[in-house]
Amino acid sequence: MPTILALETSCDETAAAVVRDRTVLSNVVASQIDLHRRYGGVVPEMASRAHVENLGAVVEAALQEAGLGWSAIDGIAATCAPGLVGALMVGLTAGKTLAMLHHKPFLGIHHLEGHIYASYLSEPTLEPPFLCLLVSGGHTSLIHVKGCGDYVTLGKTRDDAAGEAFDKVARLMGLGYPGGPVIDRLAATGDPKAFPLPEGNISLPEGGFHPYDSSFSGLKTAVLRLVESLEAKGVDPLPLEDLAASFQAAVVRSLTKRALTCAIDHGLTTIAVGGGVAANRGLRQQLTEAAAAHGIRVLFPPMKYCTDNAAMIAAAAADHFQQGHQSSFDLGARSRMMLGDVMTLYSMQDAGDRATVR
Ligand code: KG4
Ligand code: ZN
Repeated sequence: MPTILALETSCDETAAAVVRDRTVLSNVVASQIDLHRRYGGVVPEMASRAHVENLGAVVEAALQEAGLGWSAIDGIAATCAPGLVGALMVGLTAGKTLAMLHHKPFLGIHHLEGHIYASYLSEPTLEPPFLCLLVSGGHTSLIHVKGCGDYVTLGKTRDDAAGEAFDKVARLMGLGYPGGPVIDRLAATGDPKAFPLPEGNISLPEGGFHPYDSSFSGLKTAVLRLVESLEAKGVDPLPLEDLAASFQAAVVRSLTKRALTCAIDHGLTTIAVGGGVAANRGLRQQLTEAAAAHGIRVLFPPMKYCTDNAAMIAAAAADHFQQGHQSSFDLGARSRMMLGDVMTLYSMQDAGDRATVR
């Protein structure tokens, strides 16, 4: 069973973790939320600089928490795509340098594959195939997980990600950043039927709607127009609870319908949810209830594995390592990369070289 040290710096969390197979030995995250909050979103240059400042201490803490020295580490991994290029480069360069210095194999990891592996951390017996509903600040995807490195993206957002919609709507309601937690809190006491809002269907050229793709930018604009019209009518204070509940209900309705249809159409009996929006209480309740009615189980990993972390990156790397996959030291950071292209990150390592690691 390989022991992997992984680094994650694709956005605004500086993270390092040590994982043995699917067991987390340490999971250290230095969040930059307070740094970016005053700007209402992530400022890329500031994120990169903060990663440079924090990464050394975060890596040291991860090794210390795991109680391991370099000799116990079989491989070093770092997120290499997709994400903010400057931010990715910090973790990737550090990971490659540590691998060279300590003579360890190096693995670049696709960030979304990491989010998929978060489900294995909380449910080590989970086996493919299953459907992953990935809902974060940067992504909204329905992924058919067929095996390690074998993914088919069946549905995605055509514009804003679900978490991005929460953040933008919170901003236009004057609620601060990040928006998801505060909208979730307000929605708990609001009326989800107070304001009818669009679900964001994607029309197909041949008629009808795409069954799995979603859109959230129209919903965000609808909330903006609604707030403007309430303000024009002199409504003060704004009915924040009802607005939050109505918006959240529209997002949850869209995600639940698409995830369930997709799972049923593909004969998948497990939906594993990942990404920061998996924290949403409305989504947790509605998706779990609706899926149970169809005999489908829904897995929500604990929040520490849903939001960006390096344990999920290490778990993905451990599986690739077991398969004999290794990345070149020439591997570069990429802001965009399709999940279906993840195997281009690796070459096969000679099985004889790894015979001692089990
Ligand atoms: O996965 P994550 O930590 O970072 C990305 O990779 O994007 O997700 C962050 C996103 C933010 O947009 C945040 O508003 C959203 O997750 N979020 C939530 C909740 N908690 C965090 N959205 C809805 N409800 C929540 N309770
Ligand atoms: Zn993420």
